[in-house]
Amino acid sequence: MKVKDFVERYAVDRHNTDCFKWDGLQNEFGSTDLLPLWVADTEFKVPEAVTQALQARIAHGVYGYSQVVSGYQQAYINWQQQRYQTEIHPEWMRFGTGVVQSLSTLINVLTEPQEAVMVLQPVYYPFMQVIENNQRKLVVSQLKRADHHYEMDFTDIEQKIKQQHVKLLINCSPHNPVGRVWSEAELTKLLKICRENKVLFISDEIHHDLIVGQRPFVSALSIDNGLYRDNMVMVDSASKTFNLAALQNNHLIIPNPQIRTRYDNYIQRLKSPAGSLMGQVAAKAAYENGAEWLSGMLALIKQNFTYLKTHLAAENPAIEIFELEGTYLAWIDLSQVIPPTDLERVMKNDAKLAVDFGKWFGQGGDGFVRINLATTPANIELAVKRLKSVIKK
Ligand SMILES: Cc1ncc(COP(=O)(O)O)c(C=O)c1O
Repeated sequence: MKVKDFVERYAVDRHNTDCFKWDGLQNEFGSTDLLPLWVADTEFKVPEAVTQALQARIAHGVYGYSQVVSGYQQAYINWQQQRYQTEIHPEWMRFGTGVVQSLSTLINVLTEPQEAVMVLQPVYYPFMQVIENNQRKLVVSQLKRADHHYEMDFTDIEQKIKQQHVKLLINCSPHNPVGRVWSEAELTKLLKICRENKVLFISDEIHHDLIVGQRPFVSALSIDNGLYRDNMVMVDSASKTFNLAALQNNHLIIPNPQIRTRYDNYIQRLKSPAGSLMGQVAAKAAYENGAEWLSGMLALIKQNFTYLKTHLAAENPAIEIFELEGTYLAWIDLSQVIPPTDLERVMKNDAKLAVDFGKWFGQGGDGFVRINLATTPANIELAVKRLKSVIKK
């Protein structure tokens, strides 16, 4: 689908819908007159098939206790097999009410209090929050900056795993905020280090449909024909791809039967809900009928990224914009053009932009902003115009 058609058909004003991104501006940024490019959701309506599926279910009028929506597993399995050749079996699947909720649960299932859990920073900040809020020890390996992209520092990762007795590593794949789609070779190396050192692995693949560069996505589940499956849990959701976050449904893929039993026992203790009815109705319809919509979304992200990159880089070569292989989140180093201590003030008061500030993502993020590209080209043009004007000053 062409970008113009996608925008005409799906862009929608989200004001006064109780959404965080627009209606939460005052709470988070202390002002309502900012252009919001922060929260990682989009300004676009879901595919028509999703709305129709929800309407049909709502029309029934009864929303009592439900089982997993029939055909749901198969819809997800087909999507994963056809698009990425990722093999998933229905018995491996479990359901939750959000990826972050699943991460928090898994930390409790896979580790004991005070044990060490590693992340590769800068990274999506709830990773750190769920580790620390569950009284685990946070161990950080810094991603290495290379030419407009980041790489894993395998020597540092292995050293810290050994020295700090790391029990679990949470990897973001593709990576929010640095935009990397990890290669098969990188994932193989990381998974090998983890297995050799008895470190369990969680692969957060929520962004895996949002591939906008040249490198194809490969799931950690598929590496070496599934050699590392027994050592991992993969977490995923249709919510990022299809803008369904508030419907609260996600999956956990647990190939190892012993880990599944531990997970099931823990859920028994919590009695927590296994997914959400409306979330599953919506996600199933999206997996079955959302491919064309997604092609429009991906074309839009690419166009917005190209615009941002071309125009900002032309303004001042000291602005570093990292290559976007995956996600709809641009990661930009402004530290050479705006002093990091002034960044928040300049963004809010002068540029009038609500962005995610790099320092939220941990070490290595100071002086950066993360800009959400899943918005209209007009909004990206406006954001670039405002950024250029404050940088000129
Ligand atoms: C890497 C990553 N994991 C999880 C989430 C959130 O997932 P959920 O809303 O299902 O908790 C996000 C949202 O941006 C994310 O970037």
